[in-house]
Order: sequence, then structure tokens, then C-alpha cells
Amino acid sequence: MVDLYQKSLLTLLDYSKEEIIELLNIAYSLKVQKKEGRSKKLLRGKNIALLFEKDSTRTRCAFEVAAYDLGMNVTYLGPSGSQMGKKESVKDTARVLGRMYDGIEYRGYKQETVDILAKFSGVPVWNGLTDLYHPTQALADVLTMKEHNKEITTSKIVFVGNCNNNVTHSLMIIIAKLGGHLVVSSPRNYIPNKTVMEKCQQIALESGAKIEYIKDPKKAVTNADVVYTDVWVSMGEDDKVWEERILYLKPYQVNRYLLEHAKEGVKYMHCLPSFHSLETEIAKDIYNKFGINQMEVTDEIHESEKSIVFDQAENRMHTIKAIMLTSMSIDY
Ligand code: CP
Ligand code: NVA
Repeated sequence: MVDLYQKSLLTLLDYSKEEIIELLNIAYSLKVQKKEGRSKKLLRGKNIALLFEKDSTRTRCAFEVAAYDLGMNVTYLGPSGSQMGKKESVKDTARVLGRMYDGIEYRGYKQETVDILAKFSGVPVWNGLTDLYHPTQALADVLTMKEHNKEITTSKIVFVGNCNNNVTHSLMIIIAKLGGHLVVSSPRNYIPNKTVMEKCQQIALESGAKIEYIKDPKKAVTNADVVYTDVWVSMGEDDKVWEERILYLKPYQVNRYLLEHAKEGVKYMHCLPSFHSLETEIAKDIYNKFGINQMEVTDEIHESEKSIVFDQAENRMHTIKAIMLTSMSIDY
């Protein structure tokens, strides 16, 4: 029997295969209920705080809409919206918020911060992205793959680009737990965090998963069912790293030539936001400095029928709803 009541989601390392499957099933059923207009306000009157030290579109909106659908009230505290870290410690902030709220979402830098919030608040805490992990993203990713008939246990999933990042790490963990096959492909200086890789290899020994590193992107993508990438420079990193990232990661761009090596029905995934055109301020700035007009993915692939990035974005809401519901109620 899976019991997620009062459980925080700090990293998927803390979740068993059964718990992950339960969350995915509940998310799917909540999605169907919403589409059919049968949503129930199962958490009516509860209050949650959304603590963001970094910007967000999907994660913030997913938490807010999921909370409203469930009948909850929400307080958004943006990057300059609270005393935390400036005039008040994380530990004190946790104890204050825990007296007022029934759950807390945190997005920011150190994994340690979300761990402290969970330890001292006394309420469920959900990791909305740290430098190390992005667990709510990985849940939405797997739900999206399943909906596109890419079953985790029978698909070859390939992550190309900068593999030393939060999205890659959480994807590695979830695929390891669920017994799938994930190839991570990057230059040697952008491989995943060593400890996370070792933990995933350990999990794979038990689950039967295969988590491997292949440097050559074409070899990695050969016969892939899913090709996933993320930005080359994550939030909070120094602008100075762009030049080096472009130099090393350009061969890992997801474009039509790379995808020729994948299976016919390959699906392309990205957590978003992505740099696929010159329609953003940062992309224009990078173009003016380095002359590159598309980065980790081409506009052609982003807009193609292979792309399931907006299904992923929608599924953030349904999976986050499942996480909040199961951790705040025994009645669903
Ligand atoms: N994928 C994701 O977390 O997007 P946001 O940064 O918009 O929340
Ligand atoms: N790796 C990216 C993910 C954004 C959702 C970042 O941390 O900026």
C-alpha cells in the first residue's frame, strides 16, 4: 500500500517505483477528470506558499492552477518577495511558513535550502527546481512519454547536450527507478553529477534499468524513441559561460541531421523554455555576441510533429496536482 500523506518531494531518490507509478496514475486520472469537467475541490480551504528565488512560467502556473482546481488558496513569494536569505535564515522562514501554510513549494539554488525547509516547516515541501534536481519536471516527462506510447521499459530515451543539470539528473533517477533505458550524451566536461550518476547505477542494478553515457551524439541517438534536451546555460549560471558552452555543445544541437539517426517515430522533448529562435532578448543578445541563431534545438524541430514539448508543459499541472493531493490528503 502506497502512503504519500505528508511526504515531501525533495528528490525522486526518496520515492520508490511504486510511489512514482501511483503518482503518475493519479495525475492521469486527475487529468481525465478535469477534461470531463469532473474535478473536485478535494483540498478546499487549505493554504500553500510558493517560494521562488528564480523565475518561472510553467512551474508557478502549474502549482497555482492545480491549487485553485483543488480549492486551495495560494501565496506567491517571488525572488524579491520575502525576507528569506536576506534578513531571515531558511530555518526560521521554514518555521514561520509552517505555522501558516499546509504546504510549501520552493524553487531556487541549493538543494540544501529545500531540504531545510522540509526539515523545519513540519508541512510537505515540494521542490520546484534547484541547481541539482527538477523532480516535478521528470514526473510530467514520464507521463507525457506514456501518453505518446513511449513506455519507459521498452523505449530508448536519449538526453543530449549539457547533462550536468537539474533536468537530466531527475530524468536519470526516474528512468533508473522505473527500469528504463536512458543514454546521456555530452562532451566529457558536461557529464552528469558523479554522485547522482553513481546512485542511478546503484538503483539500476536492482530495477534492471540501463543508464549509460555515450559521448558521440549520433551514436547515442541511434534508434532512439525519445530525444530530450535542455538549455546549455541554466538559471543562476554566469553569463561568461556562454562562449564555452556554445563551443562544446553545438555538435549536440537537436536538428534534422541528428534525428535522422533516431527511429522513424522519434519524439522530441524539452522542459522549456528553449532557445530555438531569435524571439527572446537573451537569444538576440547571444546572436549579436556569437552569431548563433538557434541553440540546443532548431526551430524546425521545435515546431515539428515530432515535438511534444507543449504536452510536457501541460502535464506539469496534472502531475503537480497529484503530488499536492497525495501529500495533503488521504481521501482522493
Ligand atoms: N520547465 C520549467 O520548469 O519551466 P519554468 O522555468 O517556466 O517553470
Ligand atoms: N536547466 C534549466 C531548467 C529550466 C526549467 C534551468 O535550471 O534553468
